[in-house]
Amino acid sequence: MKMKELLLFLSCVLCVSADVLHEEIRITGCSESDGEEMYGLDGEEVAYADFNKQKYMYPQPPFVDPFTFREGVYEQAVANQQICRDNLQTGRKGMKDFPPEEDVPSAVMIYTRDEVEFGEKNTLICHVTGFYPAPVNVSWTKNQQKVTGSSINVPYPNKDGTFTQISRLEFTPQLGDIYSCAVQHLALTQPLTKIYEVEVSPRSDPGVGPSVFCGVGLTLGLVGVAAGTFFLVKGNECS
Ligand SMILES: *[C@@H]1O[C@H](CO)[C@@H](O)[C@H](O)[C@H]1NC(C)=O
Repeated sequence: MKMKELLLFLSCVLCVSADVLHEEIRITGCSESDGEEMYGLDGEEVAYADFNKQKYMYPQPPFVDPFTFREGVYEQAVANQQICRDNLQTGRKGMKDFPPEEDVPSAVMIYTRDEVEFGEKNTLICHVTGFYPAPVNVSWTKNQQKVTGSSINVPYPNKDGTFTQISRLEFTPQLGDIYSCAVQHLALTQPLTKIYEVEVSPRSDPGVGPSVFCGVGLTLGLVGVAAGTFFLVKGNECS
């Protein structure tokens, strides 16, 4: 009886957790000099219009069943940009060129995609978030020399109306190399810079913490046993 109740309860939990809610987002945005159209799913970028290459891009990871939108989606995106610019102009007139809000990036983080192994290809990531309006420019240096070849994704909107952008740089970690990413934004008077230094991997050196804990624990245990034995023997002697 108990078992049946338990099974019923378990199957209920499974039903609920199978009921997944997905969140799709589509954004069309423009400024005088720039524009964006992007589709996202559950916080990931699924597709975007590349107005330089004049086609839709599908930056999907290798584990998904790849998919594309119908024909003409790029032409539609171009038309959407025109509508966006018209609306922008109308809006600016209506607002009498009221200055738009500006938020400097609230956080810039630099980290590697994979755990660092010297001499093994990896990717450096510069994660910029909390800014408005989009976009930011991100430039990279290696040992104070400018490097090219980085890529950046289109601005991704956050729930609070600000944006996130992620810049990537392929690199091969060599001990002592110093990288930096510098972020430029309309609301910044000088670039925000983050440094990444290739150091001895912390994974191969867990520090002295665990050994100290182990040593102290073992010592306390042994002292306890010794004290116990001492009093046991003493107690026997007395009686
Ligand atoms: C980003 O770079 C472009 C091209 O160099 C420049 O026109 C633009 O003003 C820059 N944007 C910011 C926010 O600095």
